[in-house]
Amino acid sequence: MSAQAIGRLNHVGIAVPSIEAGLKVYRDLLGGRVTREPFDLPAQGVRACFVDTPNCQVELIEPLGAESPIAKFIEKNAAGGQHHVCFEVADIHAAKADFEGRGVRVLGEPRIGAHGTLVFFLHPKDMGGTLIEIMETPEGAH
Ligand code: CO
Repeated sequence: MSAQAIGRLNHVGIAVPSIEAGLKVYRDLLGGRVTREPFDLPAQGVRACFVDTPNCQVELIEPLGAESPIAKFIEKNAAGGQHHVCFEVADIHAAKADFEGRGVRVLGEPRIGAHGTLVFFLHPKDMGGTLIEIMETPEGAH
């Protein structure tokens, strides 16, 4: 039973040892367009940069500080790699209640993410091994 259908794929999160290394792939080799220059997001422990393709965005994230939630990921995957996928919803609080009601672990409370909108993450062990980010957007209802 699905109380709230998922919206569009908003972005794919790619963890990188450095934003520059990520830009060599997603901008220089693949021809993506940088739509947000690298910026620090101390609250999330990451440095981020957005690279757009015609139908999706790549979110490059580099560890910021020793306590970064992606520091361990980079320890295990020195070259970086796919870290999460992000889907849109119209109502973040309704989505959280919906997932919790179906036994999916929500990691923390909704908080402002790299895009300046409310997000939360779903436990990969409840989601087939993939870390899934849920983002509220005005267009989230489809
Ligand atoms: Co993300």
